Amino acid sequence: MRQNIVIFASGSGSNAQRIFEYFQTSDTINVASIYCNNPNAFVIERAKKMNIPCRVFSKAELQNGIILSELRLLNPSLIVLAGFLCLVPKEIIHAFPHKIINIHPALLPKYGGKGMYGAKVHQIVIENQEKESGITIHFVNEKYDEGDVIFQAQCEISKNDTQETLADKIHQLEYTHFPKVIERLLKEM
Ligand code: GAR
Repeated sequence: MRQNIVIFASGSGSNAQRIFEYFQTSDTINVASIYCNNPNAFVIERAKKMNIPCRVFSKAELQNGIILSELRLLNPSLIVLAGFLCLVPKEIIHAFPHKIINIHPALLPKYGGKGMYGAKVHQIVIENQEKESGITIHFVNEKYDEGDVIFQAQCEISKNDTQETLADKIHQLEYTHFPKVIERLLKEM
């Protein structure tokens, strides 16, 4: 049976592209759709190139049940937040128990919560002179970055690292591990 993934993204969408490319040749796993809350996000261009339907939606649509209705019709096996900025409404979380995962660019529970997104996270990690950072893949619950952890991977931070070089290291970890974790979760279903 074919398993469909729906990806939610707000920005560049390099993780969305990586996930799409990883499963491009799969007979069983398919990226069915990308959902984007930001009409200026580069992920929309990527979706066009990848030939994946991209649904650009408003905050109101996320909160008033329209997106939930669409997701019920799509009936994805997994909803993947890949650089998604908004809080997922509890109605969506309850409709898809243990089927919504998020990637966070730090070692949760450190450096998570509202407003901790992308470059901001790396900036604070560098300011705090941390010796390591990493990625956390976790189930999504009603609070930002607080659901059960599925997977973490670490990277070292050297004295010369900047926000940009750390972002690169983190992206490499994400590209390596995120598709594999998604694949494992889908196989276990
Ligand atoms: C990724 O590093 C992801 O971990 C992070 O945003 C970046 C999106 O990059 N997510 C968060 O910060 C969520 N709190 P991308 O758009 O190139 O995939």
